[in-house]
Amino acid sequence: MSKRSLFTTLGAASCALMLGMGSAWAAGKAVDWSKLPEAKAVLFYPGQASFEWIQTGTDHGGARSFTKKGDKCSDCHAEEAADMGKKMVTGQKIEPTVIPGKRGSIPLKIKAAFDAENLYMRFEFPAGPHNAAPNAPGGKMDPDNEIKLAMMIDDGSVPNADRAGCWSSCHADARDMPSAPKKDGFVTKYIPESRTSVSIKDEPRGGWDKLKPQAELDAMLKEGKFLDLARYKSGKGGVSEDGYVLAERVLKQDAGAKFEGKREGDTWVVTMTRKLNSGQPGDHVLQAGKTYTVGFAIHDDHAWGRFHHVSLDMRLGLGADGEIKAVKQ
Ligand code: HEC
Repeated sequence: MSKRSLFTTLGAASCALMLGMGSAWAAGKAVDWSKLPEAKAVLFYPGQASFEWIQTGTDHGGARSFTKKGDKCSDCHAEEAADMGKKMVTGQKIEPTVIPGKRGSIPLKIKAAFDAENLYMRFEFPAGPHNAAPNAPGGKMDPDNEIKLAMMIDDGSVPNADRAGCWSSCHADARDMPSAPKKDGFVTKYIPESRTSVSIKDEPRGGWDKLKPQAELDAMLKEGKFLDLARYKSGKGGVSEDGYVLAERVLKQDAGAKFEGKREGDTWVVTMTRKLNSGQPGDHVLQAGKTYTVGFAIHDDHAWGRFHHVSLDMRLGLGADGEIKAVKQ
């Protein structure tokens, strides 16, 4: 055998082995999605609506009810997400950088199941209209990934995340937000509890530079005080990331959640297999009989950063109550 053919044989063999292992884990056992109930979410374009903005009365009509009465975002907005998205995506409200042709909302179909080991989820949504983003080379902010799909999970450990969902982590000083600091790099998501203080009303809003001491942050990670995050990226044949949001967004590849995604015509279908107990720092241990607050985000049309569509707070019940019911298999 020549050197060259030995190389290709070895390459093909190890490649097949890797693929085989990957799909065995990803598939777990085959889930019969057709038998499962389907939840419908409307993901809307949030513009620059931040944790600080939603709590300021002069900015947001729902601020008082949210901060003082304990209302959830979904209590007021669940039925009108598509209309809200239109206002921001067209620049009528809190969006200085309009992307012409971008849609205001994305309908997302969600199914879920679980067994003793894993949570299985299936997401389906229409591909975007392929609008070009201004100020991005070729109109693509993230040339590598046509889509990204992310899910955030709160188990009750982050104050108010059960009402605010993703907004607990989205701040006025994050990248491309109104109070973004002029510094090297950029501020990602963080939970308010990772800071000694967060300015809600006074400029600059947020608290990126008010980090708690590292020992306290380490303790919070151990105690489960974070938002759990998993993300699929469509580039490079599909990338699975798993991590959390505490002092910043932390994502690692292949760390407890495994995604598979496929575009069929104009429809994206993404499935996820996530270990109930991955043993990874930053993963909540999911339990049968419990309900979790979840939030979803989709980056369509090669969007990045805040130029995504997001859900309001939703509930995922593992054999328990919630808009999304994970059925025991
Ligand atoms: C008590 C009801 C109520 C709650 C709770 C509430 N809002 Fe609102 N929200 C409003 C009202 C009223 C407006 C202003 C609507 C208008 O001007 O037509 C508004 C406007 C908005 C807008 C701008 C788009 C628009 O339609 O004007 C966003 C974005 C928004 N809310 C997000 C949120 C988020 C996120 C939460 C939860 C953290 C939340 N809201 C909680 C009542 C509420």
